[in-house]
Amino acid sequence: SSNAMWGGRFAAGPDAIMEAINASIGFDKRLAAQDIQGSRAHAAMLAATGIITDSDANAIREGLLTVLSEIEAGEFAFATALEDIHMNVEARLKELIGDPAGRLHTGRSRNDQVATDFKLWVRDQADAAIQGLEALIRALLAQAEAGADWVMPGFTHLQTAQPVTWGHHMMAYVEMFGRDMSRFRDARARMNESPLGAAALAGTSFPIDRHMTAQALGFDRPAANSLDAVSDRDFALEFLSAASICAMHLSRFSEELVIWSSAQFRFVTLSDRFSTGSSIMPQKKNPDAAELIRAKIGRIMGAMVALFTIMKGLPLAYSKDMQEDKEQVFDAADTLMLALAAMEGMVRDMAANVPALEAAAASGFSTATDLADWLVRALNMPFREAHHVTGALVALAEARGCDLPELTLEDMQGVHGQITADVFEVLGVRNSVASRVSYGGTAPDQVRAQIARWKEVLG
Ligand code: ARG
Repeated sequence: SSNAMWGGRFAAGPDAIMEAINASIGFDKRLAAQDIQGSRAHAAMLAATGIITDSDANAIREGLLTVLSEIEAGEFAFATALEDIHMNVEARLKELIGDPAGRLHTGRSRNDQVATDFKLWVRDQADAAIQGLEALIRALLAQAEAGADWVMPGFTHLQTAQPVTWGHHMMAYVEMFGRDMSRFRDARARMNESPLGAAALAGTSFPIDRHMTAQALGFDRPAANSLDAVSDRDFALEFLSAASICAMHLSRFSEELVIWSSAQFRFVTLSDRFSTGSSIMPQKKNPDAAELIRAKIGRIMGAMVALFTIMKGLPLAYSKDMQEDKEQVFDAADTLMLALAAMEGMVRDMAANVPALEAAAASGFSTATDLADWLVRALNMPFREAHHVTGALVALAEARGCDLPELTLEDMQGVHGQITADVFEVLGVRNSVASRVSYGGTAPDQVRAQIARWKEVLG
């Protein structure tokens, strides 16, 4: 049979394969609530502007609520033949209220309708990402507060560099996730213009009020160009870009947790709640959640690349290619929210092994820079020379199989005659971190100041 929506021009219905490739209902049913919200706003506007009668608008608006409750109750029979969520909802509305249903699509097209629905959905996901990030940041702040002065090794090249504090390390991620939050906020603010009323591409001759529907749907304003409004998906790309960067941060932190929880590091113990065992090796406790979060960027960034590739080269305005936007964004959003929640739980539960952190911080000549700085300050040595003298002391300690604090004063003076016993004060890791008082440095007071600032920011 030919189509109920555009059957006027068609003598035959679609091939089964055409129907299969064309239909989006299998995934865009997730836009049901947004679709009905948009249609209810549109109907109210059509009545307010006198384009349809109040009684038709009321019937439409009530009927749409019934449709929504049927969908929410799982009682709605989605039909592939009706292609997408927009036509499924409208067809059911017609069954429920009869002729007035046919007036809903006045001054509107599926092109502005789908852009509106999708924007509303992505906007919600940006809000959810911001919430998830906030919860994660709070978990990190709790860890940072507990361990503002626990000492651990800081690394470059994954080689011992200088001692840092646990709190400082946690707060580094707070900064990253804080920027992620602001990226989602920026994307949300920029996307918040209503496509509704752009119609197919050119606008409409009906005296619609786009400001009214924009306001009803929580948009800041209507999009200013109807061609642009129906044909860009940059809002989804911005969401996916922010999600990809966030997933990259999650992945780096996950990698650290995998390393830290190994028997060789023993920096942290992950909770049973966020670990798994092995079916053969009874001793195993594996950091599966961290590993999976480490991997999730593959899907999220894959979605971003997919949508960029779908959108590139598309001429204005709407092309059916754009129907391929949704599954990518749905999957990326689901993946991100799950990864954020898992990371939050893992961070909340994880227990730092403070003695192991401190022992690791004190090994690997981690205070060599402090020693060089002492030579500069106490002996007024040029830094380059101090670097050389310290290097010789490290070589000596290495040859002895000990760490810098275990060298005797005589050992030291054998390398440079003017070194005095005061030097030993700067070789301890606590002194080292306490001395890093420059703004943003690792000194516990600096870290506490940043924790306090973030608590104020989050309120
Ligand atoms: N299902 C379509 C989509 O997701 C809705 C818009 C269809 N518009 C059209 N002109 N065929 O993009």
